[in-house]
Amino acid sequence: MVTLPEIQHAAAVLKGGGVVAFPTETVYGLGADAANPAAIAKIYALKGRPSTHPVIVHLAGIEALDDWVLAIPSSAAQLAARFWPGPLTLIMRRASHVLDAVTGGQDTVAIRVPAHPVAQALLQAFGGGVAAPSANRFGRVSATTAAHVRAEFGAALDCLLDGGECAIGIESTIVDLSGEQPKLLRPGGVSLAALEAALGAEVGLPGEGAPRAPGMLKAHYAPGTPLMLVEPDLMPGLVRELLAQEKKLAVLSFSTARPPLPGPTWLAAASEPTGYAHALYANLRELDAAGAQIIIVERPPEQAQWLAVLDRLTRAAAGSRAAEAP
Ligand code: TXA
Ligand code: MG
Repeated sequence: MVTLPEIQHAAAVLKGGGVVAFPTETVYGLGADAANPAAIAKIYALKGRPSTHPVIVHLAGIEALDDWVLAIPSSAAQLAARFWPGPLTLIMRRASHVLDAVTGGQDTVAIRVPAHPVAQALLQAFGGGVAAPSANRFGRVSATTAAHVRAEFGAALDCLLDGGECAIGIESTIVDLSGEQPKLLRPGGVSLAALEAALGAEVGLPGEGAPRAPGMLKAHYAPGTPLMLVEPDLMPGLVRELLAQEKKLAVLSFSTARPPLPGPTWLAAASEPTGYAHALYANLRELDAAGAQIIIVERPPEQAQWLAVLDRLTRAAAGSRAAEAP
């Protein structure tokens, strides 16, 4: 477990303009002082992320929100009361002092109050806003353990707080409250139905003209190995065919019944979305490390409760194709 001196050290690293990797209940974040442009530049350099992409500002509690936004819309107050601290990020018009390095030059800022006790302790000890993208290299699979973070960045980090496995396992839900109607920019830990219930209003889905968001890129969350999403009824035939071609496979299936052939790395996924999401990035990393030529993932059902998982898998498949392209 993380000790108080470790938290105090991490807060001092942030104050000194360093980078601290820390756990949240969604995924690990790569944090820097959100008021220090040089510190934020370090995150971008570590991730290899384009500098026009905005980052989320993490706060210890809603009390600090006033400092970061132009005004708090009533929809934000409603959602914050219901879901903060928790896996929800809200996009609002930014206060004038918020750095372009944080917002990517946009007039909005993304704010999240995480619930993880280590993240809370760090934010309270630091006292300010912590700009933190997910702790992975740009476009790659997010990190849900400290070992994943080490595998991404090794010794390049000033400080890494090990808070164990992230409970939720996929990134926060992002809702844009800067326009007329609340809009879902990224499905995640809080479902669309739960958002709409809390607001008593419909939440729009992202369409044309949505703000720039790398989490919304078609290619993202991608392993290095090509990844195919396959309909359940086509799985057995495809696996047999590829094995007959002597292809080395790594498979994420809902079934624990491996085909009666030697070879493939076979991981069984949880049959419900919460468990599936919790293990998703660790599973993708394990499949990627198997030295296979193809990763095959059995497609989860097209149902509302699978929205966030389907979103990540679709982008992982697209991202792995992009990696394959010359
Ligand atoms: O669960 C999470 O949200 C994690 C943990 C560490 O908090 N963070 C995370 O950060 O996923 P990141 O940078 O990997 O993804 C944040 C997404 C990006 O797609 C970014 O473009 C979008 O939020 N974003 C940030 N500020 C924005 C803004 N002002 N307008 C639109 N999108 C924004
Ligand atoms: Mg990310």
